[in-house]
Amino acid sequence: MDDVRRWQVPGRVNLIGEHLDHNGGAALPIAIDRSLLVKARRRTDGTVNVWSRGERASFPVETVPGDVSDWSAYPAGVVWALRESGVPVTGADLVLESTLPVGAGLSSSAALTCGVALALDDLAGAGRPREELARVAQRAENDYVGVPTGLMDQYAVLFAQEGHAVHLDFGVDPPSAEPVPADWGDDGLVLAVIDTGVHHELAAGEYAERRRECAAIASELELSALASIGLDGLLSLTDETAKARARHVLTESTRVRGAVTALRRRDWAQFGAMLTSSHESLRDDFAVSCEELDVAVDAALASEALGARMTGGGFGGSAIALMRPEQVDRLRARVEAAFADRSWAAPTVFTVRPSPAAALLP
Ligand code: GLA
Repeated sequence: MDDVRRWQVPGRVNLIGEHLDHNGGAALPIAIDRSLLVKARRRTDGTVNVWSRGERASFPVETVPGDVSDWSAYPAGVVWALRESGVPVTGADLVLESTLPVGAGLSSSAALTCGVALALDDLAGAGRPREELARVAQRAENDYVGVPTGLMDQYAVLFAQEGHAVHLDFGVDPPSAEPVPADWGDDGLVLAVIDTGVHHELAAGEYAERRRECAAIASELELSALASIGLDGLLSLTDETAKARARHVLTESTRVRGAVTALRRRDWAQFGAMLTSSHESLRDDFAVSCEELDVAVDAALASEALGARMTGGGFGGSAIALMRPEQVDRLRARVEAAFADRSWAAPTVFTVRPSPAAALLP
């Protein structure tokens, strides 16, 4: 088994800066200590086999969009996008083992696509830079799976650093990634994740719809990307829905800057306040939250969290809360009771630490 290479690939939590990547703005994710392990061995017969959660998928390296539509579209999309970019994939056996919940809004799909891209690039000896592999992973998702995501998740998975958040700027090409110490742990705080259990892939159509709305507003204002909107542009909009969407993009960009400053100063009250107002903006202006996420955030705030918000694309998935560790049990009890009262399935609460980017294991 000497020829098996093993990659550990984290999920991510975005601290703040939501729906800004596809608008040429900023985001501030961390990689988390829940990850996907990709075991990879080279084949030369033109076949890729993938084992995951007791299932096996097989497809030829010549796969093209439309061939497969189940979960194996993610690895197949990577094979397709890698070959399109000139990496000679000759076949592989891939075994995926995960501690990262799927559909929880913690980027299990980016972990999968980035992990497979790293593994196949490595088996081919191609050594493509991570910026390029991030785009390959995005292309797999956009053009093979058919979900029009931005680049934040791939950049979080590939460029995070242990103990840090990564300040991403999608207003430049290639996007910039600057580490910012994320040391709330040194000040006796934890970051809790509340997985609502509502699976967000179901809402891929709504994600695409928000993207279209933003692109239309940018084009109306003759902006190359909506994140460069100013107050004048915002005030010139007459359609109330368009104004609300643009207001989220403008105010969220300001909050990211404030959150980076607060993080550097270890000003947790200020940082927490940014998280909570980001949630309100996503709920009221961008309209990508859902009842379960709102209940989770309210339960966190009632449990003395310094701040709480939904994370990721929305319409389900997870919320995060910055709090003292002794409050986590109280939060769990409160959110479980609130969900039970509404006859919703029980949510899951756990804490995460800022973790390293994807790496080859020794
Ligand atoms: C999903 C997408 C990202 C980003 C977020 C919202 O996670 O994959 O590209 O747009 O939603 O910030």
